[in-house]
Amino acid sequence: MFSKISRPSARLFSTSSASYAKVAVIGAGGGIGQPLSLLLKTNPDITALNLYDLRGAPGVAADISHVNTSSVVTGFAAENSGLEKSLEGTDVVVIPAGVPRKPGMSRDDLFNTNASIVRDLAKAIGKISPKALIAVISNPVNSTVPIVAETLKNLNVYDPKRLFGVTTLDLVRASRFISQVAGTDPANEHVSVVGGHSGTTIVPLISQSNHPDISGKAYEDLINRIQFGGDEVVKAKAGAGSATLSMAFAGSRFTKALVQGLQGVSVVENSFVESPLYADKGVPFFSSPVTLGKNGVEKIHPIGDITAKESELLETALDGLKKNIEKGVKFVSENP
Ligand code: NAI
Repeated sequence: MFSKISRPSARLFSTSSASYAKVAVIGAGGGIGQPLSLLLKTNPDITALNLYDLRGAPGVAADISHVNTSSVVTGFAAENSGLEKSLEGTDVVVIPAGVPRKPGMSRDDLFNTNASIVRDLAKAIGKISPKALIAVISNPVNSTVPIVAETLKNLNVYDPKRLFGVTTLDLVRASRFISQVAGTDPANEHVSVVGGHSGTTIVPLISQSNHPDISGKAYEDLINRIQFGGDEVVKAKAGAGSATLSMAFAGSRFTKALVQGLQGVSVVENSFVESPLYADKGVPFFSSPVTLGKNGVEKIHPIGDITAKESELLETALDGLKKNIEKGVKFVSENP
């Protein structure tokens, strides 16, 4: 029987509390990067914040640095090896660099632009801060995470415990959307969302939530909304991008969990990581609950008991994931 895993806020195990965590945000001048950097500035566990972007990071850093928390914020421009300098000594590198969707685009449509951006950033991380935990926000996450893995493998510095695709927004949305269906406080709602981060690769496990009885049209609508919630934002922004503010919230939550893990406080978050769960089906990366610790991934938890309907959703997700992952791996083998 599946037993519920303690959620992110739960401090499961604490051995020590390191006093220092240096976090770099790569793409800090963008729609996600700016509010994400602001939220990270309010995190007392982060003592140094390095902000890098091709455009505007020094300005964002100057602005955020006036917030009265003690972390030191430094901005880096592309000139004078700014990327490399921003990565020096970092414990966590968060990557929201790249282009976002416009109406009518799928996340996969971003592949051509973002694949090479993420590959080049991974090369720099592999050279300058190979031990950092890497949190990839740039889409399509299902492909960009394998791209980072393959690039780091080429540099002989790949550690699967240190690479994460950020799928937290799917859990944030699921918690909010189910609370709207059930008429409850989302703070008390947790829905495990597994699989990947795009459309039908997103598998919400309603049967494990507080509301396993949601069924019929309400169930179908809820699944659809969680899987395609990003489209609501893309449409409403009408060409001005995709989710940035809710993503910053989710990215900040995930970064906080990574930093807590580094500081010896084990925390569980769902993340898209190299995973043994469905590797035998040709799907070597998969998002499921992960215990985070001092070296990144401490334990990958199975998804737990699921219903027949959820098994169908999972099979569809695995088909899509296999293709997305293969596309990322192929890109690096052809464009190292
Ligand atoms: P944006 O266009 O507002 O910002 C992207 C930033 O990346 C820009 O400031 C740009 O200058 C910078 N950038 C581009 N190439 C770079 C490079 N080589 N080095 C450093 N910086 C670089 O886009 P937004 O809305 O912030 O989205 C960023 C990415 O996050 C997109 O790929 C988007 O699809 C993805 N995303 C992921 C989500 C998730 O749940 N994982 C949710 C929402 C968006």
